[in-house]
Amino acid sequence: MPPIPLRNHGPKARIAVIPGDGIGREVTPVAVEVIQAATAKRNRPIEFVEFDWGAEKYLREKVSLPEGAIEMLRDEFDAILFGALGDPRVPSNQHAADILLGLRFKLDLYVNARPTELLHPRFTPLRDRTPADINFIVFRENTEGLYAGVGGFFKKGTPDEIAVQEDVNSRKGVERIIRHAFAYARGGGLCSGRSLDRQQGESASPASASSRRPLRLCMSDKSNALTFAHDLWQRVFKSVRVEYPDVDSRHLYIDTLAMELVRDPSQFDVIVTCNLFGDIISDLAAQLAGGLGLAPSANIHPGRTSLFEPVHGSAPNIAGKGIANPFGAVLASGMLLEFLGWQEESAVLKQSVKSALSENITTPDLGGSKPTLEVSDFLTNYVAKYS
Ligand code: NAD
Ligand code: IPM
Ligand code: MN
Repeated sequence: MPPIPLRNHGPKARIAVIPGDGIGREVTPVAVEVIQAATAKRNRPIEFVEFDWGAEKYLREKVSLPEGAIEMLRDEFDAILFGALGDPRVPSNQHAADILLGLRFKLDLYVNARPTELLHPRFTPLRDRTPADINFIVFRENTEGLYAGVGGFFKKGTPDEIAVQEDVNSRKGVERIIRHAFAYARGGGLCSGRSLDRQQGESASPASASSRRPLRLCMSDKSNALTFAHDLWQRVFKSVRVEYPDVDSRHLYIDTLAMELVRDPSQFDVIVTCNLFGDIISDLAAQLAGGLGLAPSANIHPGRTSLFEPVHGSAPNIAGKGIANPFGAVLASGMLLEFLGWQEESAVLKQSVKSALSENITTPDLGGSKPTLEVSDFLTNYVAKYS
C-alpha cells in the first residue's frame, strides 16, 4: 500500500474530534471507535485530538470558536470529525453559527457533499422503491448564499421593523461548486478538482479510476423568481456544461426537484444547488433512505483540512437517552477515510452499517430496539472481523 501523503507529510493522519452538543456527544465516540477498529487492523497511522467546543463551553466561558482554532485546524490536522451543535439553553444558536458555520466559511469548505443511498429496501417510505432507485448525491454550495450572514435589522423591535438577509452569490463561488459536481459526475471522486497538495497523483475514489458512463447531473435553482442571484447560477451552469458534453446535464427549479425526488428518485445521480436549497433538499433526500439518523455529509475543500459530520442535529428530544442512531456519524467517518485515501477501510464501515440494517441491529428511530452502545458494539466487531 503506498503511503498517504498527510498534512505536513506527518507520520500520522491527525483527526480533530468535535463531538459538540446533545447526541453529537453520543454518536461521535462510536464513529471514533469504528475508525480505530478499521485503521488498527491495517496499521494505518492515525491519531485523534478531542475539542470540547459547544454549548457547555459557550455558557461557561463565553467562548464558541476559540481564537487561533482555524489556523490550528488548517495547519495541524488532516480532517475534522464533527458531531452536532444546538442546545435549548442557547436559543440564539450563536455558538453553532460561530463554530459550524465558522469552520465551513473560514476553512473555505465549499463542497458540502451529502450522499443518499438506500442501504436496505425496508427503510424507504416510498412504495416499490429499491436500492437501485435511490442512490444519488447532493452537492450543496457551502460558503455563501443566504448563509453569508449579510443583512441587518432596521427599526428592530418596533412595529415598523425591517429584517434583511442578503443572498450573496459570487461567480467564483457558484462556478467552483458547479465544476466540482461536473467533475464528480465524470468520475472524479469526492475530491475532484483538488489542488493536489494531498494525495498527489492518487485517485481520490475507486470511481475515479473507472471507465463507467458519466453520472447524470441536475443543477437546481429558483431563477424564475430569484432573477439576479440565480440568473448567475444559470449563466455559470450554461458556461461550465459546454466543457462536459459527455455528462448528461439538466436544470430543474428547486420546487420541481423536491416533487421529482419523491415521485421518481431513480432519475437522479448528482444534484448541485445553493446553500439553503441544499440544506433543505438533503433532509428530504435523507428521509427517502431511512431518515436523518442514516445520513452522512462531508464539508470539503479539495486538498485542505476538511470536515465530516452526520447531517442530523443535536436532537435535544432524545439526547441523553442512549438511543441516538450512530449510522450517520459512522457513514460520515467512511467519507473521512475515503478523503484520506483509505478506500478499503471506508468500504468496511459502510458494509458494517449495511449488515446492522439487515440484521435489524438498529435504534428506535429505525424501528429497532437497540441502544446506541449495542449498535456500536455490533459495528466495531464487524469492522474488526472483516477489515
Ligand atoms: P435534529 O436533526 O436534531 O432532529 C430532528 C429529528 O430527528 C428529531 O426528532 C430527532 O430525534 C431525530 N434524529 C436526528 N438525528 C437522529 C439520530 N442520530 N438518531 C435518532 N433520531 C435522530 O434537528 P432539529 O430538531 O431541527 O434541531 C435540533 C438542534 O440541532 C437545533 O439546535 C439545530 O439548530 C441543530 N442542528 C445542528 C446541525 C449540525 O450541527 N450539523 C444540523 C441540524 C440541526
Ligand atoms: C446542517 C444544519 C446547519 C445548516 C445548521 C445547524 C446551521 O441544518 O448542517 O444541515 O443549516 O447548514
Ligand atoms: Mn440541515
